[in-house]
Amino acid sequence: MNLKNDLILRAARGESVERYPVWLMRQAGRILPEYRAVRNSLSGFKELVETPQLAAEVTIQPVDILDVDAAIIFSDILVVPEAMGLEYQMIEKKGPWFEKTVCTREQLSTIQTDFDIEDRLGYVTEAIKITNKELDGRVPLIGFAGAPWTIFCYMTEGQGSKTFSVSRKILYTDPTLAHELLQSITDVTIKYLKAQIAAGAHMVQVFDSWAGILGKDQYQEFGIKYLKQIADAINEVPVTLFSKGAFSSLKEIGELSCNTVGLDWNMNIEQARALVGETRTLQGNLDPCALYSSHKELERLTNNMMESFVSQRHIVNLGHGVYPDIDPEKVKTFIKTVKSYAIKH
Ligand code: CP3
Repeated sequence: MNLKNDLILRAARGESVERYPVWLMRQAGRILPEYRAVRNSLSGFKELVETPQLAAEVTIQPVDILDVDAAIIFSDILVVPEAMGLEYQMIEKKGPWFEKTVCTREQLSTIQTDFDIEDRLGYVTEAIKITNKELDGRVPLIGFAGAPWTIFCYMTEGQGSKTFSVSRKILYTDPTLAHELLQSITDVTIKYLKAQIAAGAHMVQVFDSWAGILGKDQYQEFGIKYLKQIADAINEVPVTLFSKGAFSSLKEIGELSCNTVGLDWNMNIEQARALVGETRTLQGNLDPCALYSSHKELERLTNNMMESFVSQRHIVNLGHGVYPDIDPEKVKTFIKTVKSYAIKH
């Protein structure tokens, strides 16, 4: 299908663009009353994720309402550990919770990798197909997965954590087990991303939300090693790697076979550009809290950020997912500001 707006794909490939493309991480869901209306009619988050027609509907909402330059498929990174044998629950106001975790060799032996993606995650590929049909080429659709390290965190800790000390402990007590689990997650993730692409995802993003809790050497050994396998395996569509908090490894991430490197709001754009070079696109990185400021201040901050881009190779986004209590009108101001900015380079 021909895309009417392929700005984000051109930006990812380093082709010329007439303006910067813009979307928001976690744009599907959370902030829109229209999302909550769909969500509240169901038993919970998982029912929405697993019902392709409804997942497609909430995927398209931000395109209709916010006018973003890309859609991201409504799902969660936790569908991968679930497919591997660890069922999760999404507990209201608390977040994800896994009854079983993988901290021992015996538990590792129950983890499955050799399954058919369509059998267990067919609801995601089906949602991608429906979304593209309904989008009718208006904007590209982004597929995604969690990075192996971040999925490892949830599979070992079993829930969110400030420190993920259970997960990090294993890196010291049984690094062999850690590598075996990370390799299993990587193998499934590659198959899963390829299935999303075959279903119609126009680009894919890998979220390494917990990259920043590892030091540089450990992130190289337990994070980047596996991101590299994913980046090497996916050549069909542009790949974005977003390693939150991994400023000290930015150069190494930029050397992987990706198109775009995601930046969180702590990363300085000029420094990031110097580390990553001109052959990769940068994505980000306004502080999500900037959307709590006034419309006027938000415009100023957004323009300031774009002033610091010294090349065309940028996709505008926040430095992390949009927070649930942000006023959608602020999001519209952010998007309008990006769209009316004249690129200087
Ligand atoms: O970007 C999008 O809008 C697409 C959908 C999407 C969701 N989760 C839906 C969701 C994406 C890309 C994710 C990724 C995700 N999920 C990450 C990586 C990005 C990041 O924020 O760092 C992580 C770490 C998760 C795991 C997860 N899912 C947590 C910790 C939670 C609970 C807290 C929270 O963030 O809301 C979720 C739940 C979740 N995933 C919700 C949504 C819309 C809220 C659930 C609800 O509607 O009740």
